[in-house]
Amino acid sequence: MTNDELSQTLDTTDEWITERTGIRERRIGGTAKSLGVLAGQRALDDAAVDARDVDFLLLATTTPDRITPATAPVIAHELGMHCPAMDINAACSGFMYAVRTAYGLLETGSKRILVIGSENLSRWVDWSDRNMAVLLADGAGATVIEYDPTENDLLSFSLGAEGADADLLTCEHGGFFQMDGKEVFRRAVRVVVDSAEKAMTLAGVSADDLALVIPHQANIRIIQAACQRLNIEMERAVVVLDRLGNTSSASIPLAYGDARANDRIHKGDYALLTGFGAGMTWASAVVRWSK
Ligand code: UT7
Repeated sequence: MTNDELSQTLDTTDEWITERTGIRERRIGGTAKSLGVLAGQRALDDAAVDARDVDFLLLATTTPDRITPATAPVIAHELGMHCPAMDINAACSGFMYAVRTAYGLLETGSKRILVIGSENLSRWVDWSDRNMAVLLADGAGATVIEYDPTENDLLSFSLGAEGADADLLTCEHGGFFQMDGKEVFRRAVRVVVDSAEKAMTLAGVSADDLALVIPHQANIRIIQAACQRLNIEMERAVVVLDRLGNTSSASIPLAYGDARANDRIHKGDYALLTGFGAGMTWASAVVRWSK
């Protein structure tokens, strides 16, 4: 759905949306399950891993298909998996929270984990509310994380949550997403910069060592402001929000999928993954690319 299509029914323009957010078009459709199955299968194929050899499925989603059961077991069944499966909801930080959880599981006996971020945000958008309708979209991304006794490529994490700010971005049962955009923007830049610096320090890398920054895709101005404060040129930031909008916990895996498809990241490269969202939650990690 393009900005022009949106402006046919909303009091907005392509110019406003592009200038204020960087978004030009977004994908609408699917469910957390259907998109998650698609992304999960592609990740398994890409990693040449049989579904039966995965011993945990973690699904990051803000928009599960039902309150219960969780969507993860349903996806696991569709993919032919016979393993524990659960949803994780940390809003737009969800994928990084799931990766952090996967790391803990790998440290305690799991061998191979499928992590999916899948969102059906459009279902919870009031399409007459220009504040949210221009931002949110549907999508999914996934990754396979394997235990390697000789090498750890998940170098560091810095996660947090500040529940005092929970009312800044909400969606009540049966309601729609609502946000104090300006305040979320301000806090987003602050927590991204702070957690990114902590993750880099913990990993023993500097901003100059990073091949890529793979940020949550909410607003190009947030990415620009954070990169500027971290002394990282925008050329090293992955941006897919122009084509995909804000897909919450799907946005980071979609961004690094795009980076891989465009040959922007290679084995041994350091990357900073960083997200923030409702909660308010945030999560940064430094990883060394292993494939
Ligand atoms: O995924 C995690 C969480 N989400 C985010 O990180 C989003 C964070 N926030 C943002 O990205 C930005 O705050 C927004 C994109 C939501 C809004 O951008 P802004 O630059 O903060 O705009 P604003 O709310 O200050 O509005 C500026 C003007 C206002 O008009 P006046 O009062 O100056 O006359 C708004 O009424 O733009 C108007 N406006 C719009 N105009 C056209 C607000 N939304 C729209 C719109 N189309 N969609």
